[in-house]
Amino acid sequence: MTYLGIDLGTSGLRALLVSEEGTPIASSERHYEVSHPAEGWSEQAPAAWIAALEEAVAELRTTCPEFADLAGIGVAGHMHGAVLLDAEDQVLRPCILWNDTRAHAEAAALDAIPGLRARSGNIVFPGFTAPKLLWVQTHEPDIFARVARVLLPAAYLNLYLTGEAVTDMSDAAGTSWLDVGARAWSDPLLEAGAMRAGQMPRLVEGSERAGHLRPALARDWGLSGKVVVAGGAGDNAAAACGIGALEEGAGFVSLGTSGVLLAARDGYHPAPETAVHTFCHAVPGRWYQMGVMLSATDSLNWLGRIAGQRPADLTAALGETLRPPGPVRFLPYLSGERTPHNDAAIRGSFTGLSAGTDLADMTRAVLEGVAFGLRDSLLALEATGARFDTLMAIGGGSASPYWCRLLATVLNTPLSLPMAGEFGAALGAARLAMGATGRPVEEVMTPPAIGGQVEADRDLLATFETAHERFRASYPAIRAVQ
Ligand code: XUL
Repeated sequence: MTYLGIDLGTSGLRALLVSEEGTPIASSERHYEVSHPAEGWSEQAPAAWIAALEEAVAELRTTCPEFADLAGIGVAGHMHGAVLLDAEDQVLRPCILWNDTRAHAEAAALDAIPGLRARSGNIVFPGFTAPKLLWVQTHEPDIFARVARVLLPAAYLNLYLTGEAVTDMSDAAGTSWLDVGARAWSDPLLEAGAMRAGQMPRLVEGSERAGHLRPALARDWGLSGKVVVAGGAGDNAAAACGIGALEEGAGFVSLGTSGVLLAARDGYHPAPETAVHTFCHAVPGRWYQMGVMLSATDSLNWLGRIAGQRPADLTAALGETLRPPGPVRFLPYLSGERTPHNDAAIRGSFTGLSAGTDLADMTRAVLEGVAFGLRDSLLALEATGARFDTLMAIGGGSASPYWCRLLATVLNTPLSLPMAGEFGAALGAARLAMGATGRPVEEVMTPPAIGGQVEADRDLLATFETAHERFRASYPAIRAVQ
């Protein structure tokens, strides 16, 4: 038997086939675009995800005979996106994504409703799903009137796969319509967001069965057995499953498009005042907390675009020896910020530039700015009582030794680097598929082999701490002039 984990990411879809033991066999990836029709907007056509999925599966089918033994599928998706469907399940408009901040006024209005944070356990951030629907209600009333269902991106793939509208708790937690402590849709939250329970997908745990692969799709994919589709997960919960971070003390720092510092929690400990996210985990009876910065590798990609260089070349040019913080400072708020500021309007900045500043100085400043932003998240998480016994570094940016050493120093925490191979959201999704076919989750969600440990540079701890204090102080100053 084999299992398929699908990671529906912001820039592309990755399909990973694993064996009965959960060992990766093969993967296939397809990319698509994000469109930015206006400042602060970020959209994607759900049809592009389906096309990417079909192409990725077609490749796996031709290259891997094991695909024919498929027993289960799990989908992990970028969170918070609103896929609006009419009564025939037709997509009404492009999906408004997690890093779209157009609904900031609606988010602030929802967030100000007394008792709302207490019910959802979270700030209503502009990128969350509920304010997006209020924005559509005001600005696209004809579309709003036709909304029969709202699905998160992963749940839209679940619908395509099974014909059923089902979402998992971890993804549903990012809507502001879920009572995150009770793991159930909340009528008062739905009402505040002008939604009805009938427009919501059925809720299951990520490692439970959401349904079965539609017979027509199974035929097209050359599959004869019954294939279980799991509830799936939001991408961060799936990544936590991929590295086996289920228990208190386990977590990761992810340098992806967004930057995430995630701590697994045994219980529900909401602390919205810290701007930390408190969400259901993708397995029953567990939660996790995370600080989210909106532009992590996105900041470096931006610099690469401006400079006409590949991001990996920019970081490689720094070498591996950590240097003290430079005079150039970068605030990584290209799309606004969630933790700790909850500020959709703030934008990034470079300061301390001189005639002698070169591209390497600017690269260093970008890496430092992102690391300082993640230290903000660490302080916020610590205020909730979360702790890290082990902290794994994952995501594209963790391939840079300089960035990892910098991060270990700025966070004053050693980072474990998983051995090259699979450990991300796609593996987590495949593991959820294994769980949905009846395998105990604790058995399949084990930590990856560790390839190396990155220690903080003791000699530079104090100077980076001071630099972080300066970074924190520059937020209100920049805010005042923007
Ligand atoms: C989490 C978040 C992002 C997206 C995209 O709250 O918005 O991490 O899930 O990866």
